[in-house]
Amino acid sequence: MCGIVGYVGFRNATDILVDGLRRLEYRGYDSAGVAVRTAEGLRVVKRSGKLAALEALLKEEHLEGPLGVGHTRWATHGAPTDPNAHPHTTEDGKIAVIHNGIIENYLELKEALLARGHRFRSETDSEVFAHLVEEKYQGDLFQALREALKEVRGAYAVVVVHEDHEEIVAARTVSPLVVGLGAGENFLASDVPALLPYTRRVIFLHDGDLVRLTREGVEVTDLAGNPVAREVVEVDWTLEAAEKGGFPHYMLKEIYEQPWVLENTLGGRLREEEGDVDLGLALDPREVERVHFIACGTAAYAGWYGKYLMEILARIPAEWEVASEYRYRDPVVDGKTLAVAISQSGETIDTLEGIREAKAKGARTLGVINAKGSSITREVEEVLYIHAGPEIGVASTKAYTAMLAAMALLAVRFARARGTLSKEAAQALIREMRKLPRLVEEALEKRPIVAHIAEKYHQAQDFLFLGRHVQAPTAYEGALKLKEISYIHAEAYPAGEMKHGPIALIDERLPVVVLATRGPLYEKTLSNIQEVRARGGKVIAVATEGDEEIPKLAQDVIYLPEVHPLLAPIVSVVPLQLLAYEVAVLLGRDVDQPRNLAKSVTVE
Ligand code: F6R
Repeated sequence: MCGIVGYVGFRNATDILVDGLRRLEYRGYDSAGVAVRTAEGLRVVKRSGKLAALEALLKEEHLEGPLGVGHTRWATHGAPTDPNAHPHTTEDGKIAVIHNGIIENYLELKEALLARGHRFRSETDSEVFAHLVEEKYQGDLFQALREALKEVRGAYAVVVVHEDHEEIVAARTVSPLVVGLGAGENFLASDVPALLPYTRRVIFLHDGDLVRLTREGVEVTDLAGNPVAREVVEVDWTLEAAEKGGFPHYMLKEIYEQPWVLENTLGGRLREEEGDVDLGLALDPREVERVHFIACGTAAYAGWYGKYLMEILARIPAEWEVASEYRYRDPVVDGKTLAVAISQSGETIDTLEGIREAKAKGARTLGVINAKGSSITREVEEVLYIHAGPEIGVASTKAYTAMLAAMALLAVRFARARGTLSKEAAQALIREMRKLPRLVEEALEKRPIVAHIAEKYHQAQDFLFLGRHVQAPTAYEGALKLKEISYIHAEAYPAGEMKHGPIALIDERLPVVVLATRGPLYEKTLSNIQEVRARGGKVIAVATEGDEEIPKLAQDVIYLPEVHPLLAPIVSVVPLQLLAYEVAVLLGRDVDQPRNLAKSVTVE
């Protein structure tokens, strides 16, 4: 998740770019850079670190010119170094490119470009764009971009400028891009806050759109070059509302970001042809005899899911545990143990100490982390970043789904390395993983029915959440979300465990949310629903589309699209996040900053 700004007009572009980048810095802060068309040609200034580092450099460089593009980076491919910062240029320095997202086939493209004599200066996937556009360029920059895009697979918002052209050309698919319309000037940005000081007339580009901006106008086309008409929207957002993308709360915005977050987590890593995933890890899974997932709260439930997948797919003994217990109970660990710390912030002190404890006992260590450069990333041998972008709402949502996706990636890698999953089976699973962003998109469309259920039950004193197998962690996460932001007491249980005690809680006042999607224990889950019904409990079922049995048993049903049973939690948690959100809003709670909670828990 990075920030993009572009300007063409009559003012000094550098000032507008820096100002816009400052307003987008919340999207990423590993490095920043600008390319400006000056009287001496196209000049690029870029620097690793926060925007302030770039600003200091610009004070010395004095870039003046009426056209430019700027970028703040949240690193995916390649470390946050100066050469990896955007914009990327061709060797002759005539073309500069900025890119958000992930180019899935960049390795193939890069190899082919190297073979044709191109020289690369960064480790990023983005640099291939600059070279591709250079190859396709025959005097028409817009056409060159169009041709280049035909060879690229993945998610992108890409922006290109050329020394000889007074225009900015750009395209998007999955990653956002917004055009700002001015008089004698036009703007481009990855998010509305960067545009607000200059214009409120914007065009939200759609997937597959290409755009050409000059001082005088804006032209939108599809990949084939056909003109596309897009609505001009007048935004009346305050700056704060704009940072929330027009959503009333960060939490809701982050829930809605999940399709492209999943694209970010998975996109560049799936190798369908090989039936494998590329995590860039040096660790050899064959040297590992057991896995310990160590984390807190929501992240710990991701670890629980990781345990299931590791055991099911890679046949390796795996445990998950909340870090505050793990660190103090003298766990049995040796050099064949892989300790995996899962954390959004990378700063949670219990998780940090848990991984230190494992390390001190000789374990190999891995971090599954969102925040770059955080304490845990410095403590572990290697990091698998989840690439969820900054998460601001205190209740974790998009980081959770990204963690689940990372667990699936890890399990596939281990399973392939250890020979417990055939190439064909891995390919089939990878194909299912590719569908996840779209399936989550469909799950988000269930918000109206979820809102209706929230309306019905928001006065309840207690909720129960039930799920089995890989959906047991989903039930726990659903209960945690509800209690932390609505303050309603919620319990979760593996559904089969209910008869051993919690069944006593059930009466006609208790809403019971049951994860009843199709999967290995579907029939048994139906029996558990019967048990709840028999005692008067109100059943809210999360089920698979087309299931005709469920409405006979449940008062309310949230249907979700068909998904591979092992991946179902990544889709099923979405309506539970929405349920917690809707209930909290109805109760007038402070959704983004619930009482007593902090985003990053750095005290014991
Ligand atoms: C729940 C929540 C917390 C965190 C936990 C770990 O919504 O956000 O339970 O998941 O404090 O935080 P990280 O992932 O930053 O280590």
